[in-house]
Amino acid sequence: MFQKTQYKFLLSYIVIFTALLATFALAVRFVFSHSLKEKLIENLTILGRNAAISSEFDDEKLNIDSDFPVREFIARHQALQWFDSQCKLVLQQGEYVLSLPINPEQKVQQQRVKGIRLQSVTLPINSYENNRLIGYVRVSQSLEDFDETIARLDIGLGCGVVITLALSCIGGVFLTRKAMQPIEESFLKLKQFTADASHELRSPLMAITANVEVALENPEEFRPKDIKKFKAIASATDQMTCLVEDLLLLARSDQVEKPRYEAVNIEEILYNLLELYELQANHKKINFKVNIAESLYVLGDNVQLTRVFANLIENALQYTPLCGAVEINAVRNGQQVCVKVKDTGIGMTPEQLEQIFERFWRASEARSYRAGGFGLGLAIVKSFVKNHSGNITVTSQLNIGSCFTVSLPMHRS
Ligand SMILES: Nc1ncnc2c1ncn2[C@@H]1O[C@H](COP(=O)(O)OP(=O)(O)O)[C@@H](O)[C@H]1O
Ligand SMILES: [Mg+2]
Repeated sequence: MFQKTQYKFLLSYIVIFTALLATFALAVRFVFSHSLKEKLIENLTILGRNAAISSEFDDEKLNIDSDFPVREFIARHQALQWFDSQCKLVLQQGEYVLSLPINPEQKVQQQRVKGIRLQSVTLPINSYENNRLIGYVRVSQSLEDFDETIARLDIGLGCGVVITLALSCIGGVFLTRKAMQPIEESFLKLKQFTADASHELRSPLMAITANVEVALENPEEFRPKDIKKFKAIASATDQMTCLVEDLLLLARSDQVEKPRYEAVNIEEILYNLLELYELQANHKKINFKVNIAESLYVLGDNVQLTRVFANLIENALQYTPLCGAVEINAVRNGQQVCVKVKDTGIGMTPEQLEQIFERFWRASEARSYRAGGFGLGLAIVKSFVKNHSGNITVTSQLNIGSCFTVSLPMHRS
């Protein structure tokens, strides 16, 4: 009964948790790759600084200190390039060199060479004597290792997110089920209470009705003033009996585990109801327009289905002014039996339409139009249609009319 709410809870929980996990994974990836890149640039800067200290230009000729054995200093994926003060390449060592010209303003450069991303750091070479700028040294390194580490991190994070999500889904199902349990229990208790209370109210109401009937059958024993009072009591008791019956019907409807369903002929139900309501329609000079196909069978409960269409026809008649029209249309639509009850009545606004199936809800227009309704009729209709795995929809326009459509799975006997 609360499954839909439970799924909604679960879905919102999963969406929020996925968003949090994704944010967390992205943050970890960003911080990790950022600090890894910084570390790499720092290492390149140290190497570049050593190379710059060990280099000197003598009449435009590059001299590298013998203390700085280039080949030993640079690692497998690194390279060194020397430039003179005019940014002209003088010497390069190593495989992973950038082809970009150096930019003295830009210390850090990146370039893709033969499909490999290279990261470089450029440092100035200053003369020992007067600290004058005499050239540049550029240290570069391929980012293959870096990319590989990040790819491994991505796989790790991806797996972590998926596993955490799967585990949290299982936990979520368990938690939402646990959370819904007390709500479901109290709802069932409330329903049982309604059923019990309505049931218990039936006997005293029956006693009142019986006594009032006896009094009204023997008016000579009472004063005319008392007879009037008895009539008021009888009318109020009738109303109360209707309410109690409707409440009991609703409370029981949700509890019933598909009662013994049989093939029910909708055509027959509708014609019987038309006969039943003919007098009421004539009274209001309402025209019935009828179009009912033959042999519309549904697997269901005759009493419940009769009640569904009785409530809809009754509403159509009640909320349609004098000389209006009520149209009953029942056809086969694929695997469905489709019954439309359309009227030219007071209609409803879109906001009202959202509430009509709620228990005890009545539009204010309806109150002034018809006193004595309880707003339970459509709640009963909805519950019974649901019991039959059917669907009810409604379209309506204020002051123009309403159309209720009930679709029920067809039974092929
Ligand atoms: N055919 C209709 N035309 C206009 N309003 C309707 C129609 N059917 C239902 N309604 C609105 O929906 C409300 C709920 O209907 P229902 O559950 O049958 O209760 P009741 O008829 O006892 O008021 C009505 O009070 C009325 O406002
Ligand atoms: Mg009604």
